[in-house]
Amino acid sequence: MKEKVESLKAQIEEFKGKTSVAVEEFRLKYISKKGALSELFEDLKTIPVEQKKLAGQMLNELKKLAEARFNELQQALETSSQTIAFDDDLTLPTIPNKTGSQHPLNLTRYRIIEIFERLGFNVEDGPEIENDWHNFTALNFPENHPAREMQDTFFVEKPVRVDGGNPDVLLRTHTSNVQIRLMKNRKPPFRAIMPGRVYRNEAISARAHCFFHQVEGLYVDKNVGFSDLKQTLYHFAKEMFGKDTKIRLRPSFFPFTEPSAEIDISCLICHGKGCNVCKYSGWVEIAGSGMVHPNVLRNCGIDPEEYTGFAFGMGIERITMLRYSINDLRLFSENDIRFLKQFKPVI
Ligand code: PHE
Repeated sequence: MKEKVESLKAQIEEFKGKTSVAVEEFRLKYISKKGALSELFEDLKTIPVEQKKLAGQMLNELKKLAEARFNELQQALETSSQTIAFDDDLTLPTIPNKTGSQHPLNLTRYRIIEIFERLGFNVEDGPEIENDWHNFTALNFPENHPAREMQDTFFVEKPVRVDGGNPDVLLRTHTSNVQIRLMKNRKPPFRAIMPGRVYRNEAISARAHCFFHQVEGLYVDKNVGFSDLKQTLYHFAKEMFGKDTKIRLRPSFFPFTEPSAEIDISCLICHGKGCNVCKYSGWVEIAGSGMVHPNVLRNCGIDPEEYTGFAFGMGIERITMLRYSINDLRLFSENDIRFLKQFKPVI
């Protein structure tokens, strides 16, 4: 018995574990109900009466020692976990911290904003759920214009018409609604770009989607002419796609601009020689544009005799596809991490 007590005493004093697992091991091994000390107390029963007193004293001392040591170990554990765990190897490399990347459509949007901000354009915003007046009527769309038809527009509500006006509520089909909100609520001059999401009821394919993004531009002031439109978009094209980029204006039609023009840039892939991206024409369309129609100015309470302006609308997806040679529009909204992580990290 004496030998056993001595050996346990030595073990307890020398015990060195510093982790919570080791401290628990200590408790189980020595002081728990099934531990070494309980075993010795059991043995006490078999010892001759005359030796019992001495042996009992020895065991009680050992028990006190074990409990004190246990408290000590527990305290050491608490203070160490407040600072650093001694079992961690601080020389190991850290676990790589994977931050996300920026969405390519955002990268393009930021770049467009940057270019126009330097020309003195503000950034404006408007609602995606819009009423007929802001999306169509104020923009000079005739009442039975095909763009209003069910196959293009997602209607949210088509209430029964009471008297005059069109009460329809819809998902905006372009960002031109923000032009109207801006001109109606504030006084000219205006110089603003308006990025945002738009919706059209189109079959989803590599080239079309039921939602996409546009940046609208509007410049209204005294004496704004077509040459301002052309020069602004030429400057934009060179900043965005490189200084050798050429632009071409093609006559077009929009109810809210007169005259209207489609803006093409020289193909970035073949530099005008002809390839399948530009359908062998050497040119790629990037925006619709024109001089703000006098009726639109009037609808917003602006006198077209005093003020003139230009407007344009470009597709962010199209520009992003050209910038990064992406050939399928669906990639932008599929959340495929293998695609997304190829773009600039957040930090
Ligand atoms: N809103 C037009 C479209 O979605 C683009 C545009 C904007 C054209 C402003 C001219 C002026 O196609």
